[in-house]
Amino acid sequence: MTAVSFQPSAVSQKEVVLRAEGLSKRFGGLLAVQNVTFTQYAGEILAVIGPNGAGKTTLLNLLSGVYRPTSGRLHLLGRDVTGESMEARCHAGLGRAFQIVRPFPEMTVHENVTVGALFGKSGVTLPEARERAYDLLERTGLAAHADKAAHELTLLQDKRLEVARALATQPRVLLLDEVMAGLRPAEAQEAVALVRSVQGSGVSVLFIEHIMPVVRDLADRVVVMDQGQVIAEGTYREVTANPQVVAAYLGTEEGLQA
Ligand SMILES: Nc1ncnc2c1ncn2[C@@H]1O[C@H](COP(=O)(O)OP(=O)(O)OP(=O)(O)O)[C@@H](O)[C@H]1O
Ligand SMILES: [Mg+2]
Repeated sequence: MTAVSFQPSAVSQKEVVLRAEGLSKRFGGLLAVQNVTFTQYAGEILAVIGPNGAGKTTLLNLLSGVYRPTSGRLHLLGRDVTGESMEARCHAGLGRAFQIVRPFPEMTVHENVTVGALFGKSGVTLPEARERAYDLLERTGLAAHADKAAHELTLLQDKRLEVARALATQPRVLLLDEVMAGLRPAEAQEAVALVRSVQGSGVSVLFIEHIMPVVRDLADRVVVMDQGQVIAEGTYREVTANPQVVAAYLGTEEGLQA
């Protein structure tokens, strides 16, 4: 018998890793995030850009579970996690690096990453966690600093540690908040390569970034926020040619160096 194989279209095969539906967050009189809807597909690198105060970090806080939304829903890997804690989302496969890095300052660099490895998936033994931490220090260029106390690191090294700690939890989706800020161009290129290698290992990445060349080089798709709302979505070329996006950046400090 000849098997007739059914080939579903490429579109229907795309797995959705993150789906935000009408997410809003109110702080008193301010709607910091307003009715934000977007979809991220498996393997995709998605950038969230927008002028200062646009609501990007607040959105990330809604995704990672730091805040509960005032309204809206969030699905992670097909599951509604709207009411779930940061820890539960982490166990479910969501990793996150913060804009303001906060390692345990008195612990060594290696210990900090080991904690991440223990925290992420249940059932990881301490030797496994320690070994994974060493691997990640190699990948993030921190191996030579493994035994330093975290407070001895430079800004660049701090950012790498933050990414290593997030990766240690073995996420399927990694959220990064301005991990390239303050880096020199050569350092930013290294960070770009690191994010690419993370994508290459099968992780979907959602990142917030002000440095436009980095967004251009990395993002498969860009979501643009202004005053809490999504004002555009598309490729880097599409969004940077969008008059509403150009207007949102007019007169801002960072500008839109497209
Ligand atoms: N915890 C909070 N309480 C009250 N207002 C807040 C809080 N967090 C953020 N905001 C306000 O919400 C708005 C969006 O802030 P958010 O930090 O999300 O912006 P952002 O896009 O990340 O900006 P930046 O590019 O400067 O990091 C701002 O007006 C900010 O002052
Ligand atoms: Mg921010």
